[in-house]
Amino acid sequence: MKQITIEGGHILSGEIKISGAKNSAVALVPASLLSDEIITIDNIPNISDIDALNEILSYLGAKVTRNNETMTIDSSNIINKKIPENISKKLRASYYFMGALLGKYKHVEMYFPGGCSIGARPINLHLKAFALLGAKIEEKDNLFIIDAQELKGNHIYFDVPSVGATINVLLAACKAEGITILENAAKEPEIVNVATFLNNMGAKITGAGTSTIKIKGVKKLGKCFMEVIPDRIEAGTYVIAGALMGNNLTIKNVIPEHIESLTLKLKEMGCPIKIGEDYITISACSNLKPISVKTQGYPGFPTDLQQPLTTLLVTANGRSTLEENIYENRFQNVPYLNKMGADIEIDKRKIYINGPKELNGTLVKATDLRAGACLVLAGLKANGKTTITEVEHVLRGYENIIAKLTNVGAKITLEEI
Ligand code: EPU
Repeated sequence: MKQITIEGGHILSGEIKISGAKNSAVALVPASLLSDEIITIDNIPNISDIDALNEILSYLGAKVTRNNETMTIDSSNIINKKIPENISKKLRASYYFMGALLGKYKHVEMYFPGGCSIGARPINLHLKAFALLGAKIEEKDNLFIIDAQELKGNHIYFDVPSVGATINVLLAACKAEGITILENAAKEPEIVNVATFLNNMGAKITGAGTSTIKIKGVKKLGKCFMEVIPDRIEAGTYVIAGALMGNNLTIKNVIPEHIESLTLKLKEMGCPIKIGEDYITISACSNLKPISVKTQGYPGFPTDLQQPLTTLLVTANGRSTLEENIYENRFQNVPYLNKMGADIEIDKRKIYINGPKELNGTLVKATDLRAGACLVLAGLKANGKTTITEVEHVLRGYENIIAKLTNVGAKITLEEI
């Protein structure tokens, strides 16, 4: 078990460089299986979710080499065998092997994926879409056997825009016979990154980034080089760190447009923020105004920044409201913030944050990835020492978080207990 200890109250100043996006990289890596040739992906973040995907690729017989941020994947000799539960449940994104293997071999056997426990997180939309492409699905004791004589393009409507289901269907449909049209698709930048990757391999996908995506099936996908986009959630987390403790803290390698929903809210609060072409500079200030935020799919306010933002709202002058519309159980950070001195009430899908309150260091637990990020931010702001346990969750999604924060002045350590 690992824990992070932070001595709060230190000013953050200097530069933090953002890594490749977790939620893009975790799709690009399984998607590479669709190619019959060598794939090179650059700007891969060094996080444990990528290690878990590599374990699956290696188990299937792919040759993976990694040189810093660059990964080369040769899956020309893989064996399409059942992916065991102990590796599929290490992360949520293992579900992308469903779409990739189904697309390539018309058959896949794997167990239900893992991931943060922030709600029910069903995969019914993924399965329904696979069935509409012609697959038969059997499920027993968490094992999914998905098989298709052939995959045929179809017109698919998603009841809710789902990032995972949209990407998974892109993976399966790009090698289906004919045309697939996705309606009410998710529009996140990670989907555009995956579609561009597939197109570079030879797929014919148009409309990614809008709610209607058209995929014309092709027989073969070849080699390509692709770069992972910067992680907008990592960027947003450090921008919030700057709003809490920054003195001209600059977050570099950002696509500012990807986090406009956050930066516009910070401006509404009165944060001094400067937005450049690929960087954001931010400083802390007193007298922040309270705000009201609702999480939504892109370009709405991302659920993944809801918990980190809560820490900042604790310091605002008045009562803020946060409404979580994506996951049913994404307020597990709240009892720990309250233990540190916050005054937050939970009412079903909403929380009311009564500020300003001082935070005091104490022992808290990272129940999930973004709850952990929220508590790291709280530790940076708090008086005294904060110890956060179960930070394996944080390390799944934030590359070099200790070094990045230490370099800008934080007093933060990671230890094995
Ligand atoms: N949903 C269904 N059925 C499905 C799929 C989704 O009902 O078959 C519902 C979900 O329960 C949720 C909503 O649709 O209420 C949206 O879920 P979505 O499928 O978009 O989420 P996901 O693909 O499982 C990805 C990210 C999450 C991020 C969400 C939303 C990955 C590996 N995970 O999850 O990232 O919160 O999209 O943007 O890409 C994180 O990074 O902390 C994280 C949880």
